[in-house]
Amino acid sequence: MNQHAVSVIGLGAMGAGIARTLLNAGCRVSVWNRSRGKVDELVSQGATACDSPLDAIEANTHVIVCLTDYAAWQAIIEANGLSDCFAGTCIIPLTTGTLETVQDHATFIEQHGGRLADGAVMCYPSDLGTETGSLLMAGSPDVLEECDPILRMLAANWTNLGEDFKKPTILSRALMVDVGMSLIGIVNGVAIAQAGGISLDVFMQHTQNVGAIIPVEKIRLIEAIRDGNTEETQATINAWGEGQKAVRAIAQSLGTNLVFQDAVKEVFEEAEKRGLSKKDLAALAEVFAPGS
Ligand SMILES: NC(=O)c1ccc[n+]([C@@H]2O[C@H](COP(=O)([O-])OP(=O)(O)OC[C@H]3O[C@@H](n4cnc5c(N)ncnc54)[C@H](OP(=O)(O)O)[C@@H]3O)[C@@H](O)[C@H]2O)c1
Repeated sequence: MNQHAVSVIGLGAMGAGIARTLLNAGCRVSVWNRSRGKVDELVSQGATACDSPLDAIEANTHVIVCLTDYAAWQAIIEANGLSDCFAGTCIIPLTTGTLETVQDHATFIEQHGGRLADGAVMCYPSDLGTETGSLLMAGSPDVLEECDPILRMLAANWTNLGEDFKKPTILSRALMVDVGMSLIGIVNGVAIAQAGGISLDVFMQHTQNVGAIIPVEKIRLIEAIRDGNTEETQATINAWGEGQKAVRAIAQSLGTNLVFQDAVKEVFEEAEKRGLSKKDLAALAEVFAPGS
């Protein structure tokens, strides 16, 4: 047992994973959840039960909040009259939010005398406490420093994004575009392969080969955008666009849903309108830029 003590509010898949990881690291953990069964499960693993969210706030100076969204947390605060209970407490929301809800929450906690370290978890619950654990955090240097021992138990190399509370949300959502689109792309590719009578074992084998270029290509694209180098290319936007047009035509022939291809088609049409056809794929950054 180490000297650290933390409360965890919200014991869904992620909150329970956080509580369990902290317990395994030797931390004293008090837990509250709307459905009591999840509290009892954690108590059987060594946590202390809290009968109310107020108990959880009063039990420890550091309180991790891991709920579906900030609206759920706001509903808990209002239903339990918690507004005046934050003085002296450090709230650590590891909950997905919008820029507005994150900022409103930060203002609310600070106006009510609390300290805040806002964050986003960038891994599965089972990665916490292992070398693949990943946490993006923001807060004032002194608050992040006091939270450091707790954060380290979850992700040894947690990332400090500075004082702007919105940064973890922005970075985590930007990264989710990448993960989300490639995973949705795989599911869409499976639908096309299946509709065309390709075995999924064969599809799987080849997707691994084709996918091998992705990590290198991602870095090349990011560097090209950062350096403004979008002229040099091995495959122009036009070539990529023609390739995606062919995908759409085949998907249409096979009768799969075209909703994904239609979105991709719009991106390339927009690039063509802007005269980017001869440039590298990195030039699509111009299509996505704010106000474009
Ligand atoms: N799971 C992951 O792999 C993962 C990865 C990265 C980030 N995250 C983030 O972690 C957060 C939690 O995700 P999760 O996977 O743990 O979700 P989850 O399994 O669906 O759990 C949601 C939690 O929120 C509680 N909740 C929702 N609405 C509530 C309300 N109105 N009042 C009280 N409690 C309420 C639920 O309580 P009940 O148990 O009573 O329903 C439960 O504890 C989310 O913001 C998610 O984006 C999750």
